[in-house]
Amino acid sequence: MGVATTMRAVRITAHGGPEVIELATVPVPAPGAGEVLVEVAAVALNNTDVWTRQGAYGLPGDPEALSGWRGPIGFPRIQGADVSGRIAAVGAGVDEGLVGRRVVVDPAVYDGEGPDANPVGLMGSERDGGYAEYVTAPEERIHDVTESPLTDDQLAALPIAYGTALGMIERGRLREGETALVSGASGGVGLALVQIARARGAKVVAISSGPKIDAVREAGAHEVVDRGRDIAGQVRAAAPEGIDVALDVVAGELVGEGLPLLREGGRWVIAGALGGYGVAFDVRRLYLHNAQVIGSAMHTPTHFALLMDLARQGGIRPVVAATFPLEQAARAQEELTRRDHVGKIVMCP
Ligand SMILES: NC(=O)c1ccc[n+]([C@@H]2O[C@H](COP(=O)([O-])OP(=O)(O)OC[C@H]3O[C@@H](n4cnc5c(N)ncnc54)[C@H](OP(=O)(O)O)[C@@H]3O)[C@@H](O)[C@H]2O)c1
Repeated sequence: MGVATTMRAVRITAHGGPEVIELATVPVPAPGAGEVLVEVAAVALNNTDVWTRQGAYGLPGDPEALSGWRGPIGFPRIQGADVSGRIAAVGAGVDEGLVGRRVVVDPAVYDGEGPDANPVGLMGSERDGGYAEYVTAPEERIHDVTESPLTDDQLAALPIAYGTALGMIERGRLREGETALVSGASGGVGLALVQIARARGAKVVAISSGPKIDAVREAGAHEVVDRGRDIAGQVRAAAPEGIDVALDVVAGELVGEGLPLLREGGRWVIAGALGGYGVAFDVRRLYLHNAQVIGSAMHTPTHFALLMDLARQGGIRPVVAATFPLEQAARAQEELTRRDHVGKIVMCP
């Protein structure tokens, strides 16, 4: 069966509001040497899609500058970092036998070859992504999950949310029997943090809000506190032993408020700034307790390989909150920013 020559794709033409999102018919990209062409079965949305579209990342020295997460990006850009699908064709030097395999794409562009390389680019930002019927990716970023019990939607939910969560948990060195605090716990990354931390044997104290609290508890949190009330007081009551590792995608005031809750040698891992990027805290609460604040961007190749093992074993079950057709990308992003959902929003081209 041949591959079509054109495809539907959703791309952004500039930084801006939903009006910069356009549905276009574009040529199917040709896989280059060492690359594969993936027919997209499902693409999950992330907060980074919205921030990239808005240009909300700022630049060093200019926090208000319109920018992608690593600096300026090229337009038009097809968004979408989270892809599951099937290999439709391969480029020069790639085994033809891969055609038809069910895969998840590691969306990271790394700064080197090694297993602990850092992500410095992202599919859907520095290269075209999966808001489309087809996407290309380097062969070494493709993970065969043909045998996984997870659905295509669930597989698409994994790369950014679960990759970021696993990266945070690994960088924070969370161990069995320790107590973890998870912020933004009903979101894509937050729910992944709850599930993975719980599966690791940690006691999980989650922060969420309103009607989403029950769903967070169902996902595996031992205790859920309401961010609408005194967070520190509630966490102290839920975890009188103190927090070993905070897994935080909210930052803002939570950092200053939360640092004194850490035990000796505790780790505060930050991977997002939904509550504000300007953070003030009393450094005495840091150095007097040998605590660490750790920044965490996505995952390394080692983290991603661990995640794909979990996917093949069905060791985690991502929650899919809603699915949309590709044509409704703007609506899907709007739904994401409304934050009434629990889990991942997915589009099916
Ligand atoms: N560093 C990285 O590599 C990386 C990767 C992925 C995402 N991120 C970042 O991590 C953050 C979360 O991403 P996501 O995709 O999980 O987002 P999401 O699915 O939209 O979920 C975020 C959750 O955070 C809570 N929240 C929202 N606004 C808040 C506020 N002002 N104060 C406190 N809590 C708030 C809400 O949960 P409740 O109502 O239950 O509290 C919401 O459901 C974003 O900042 C994103 O850019 C970073």
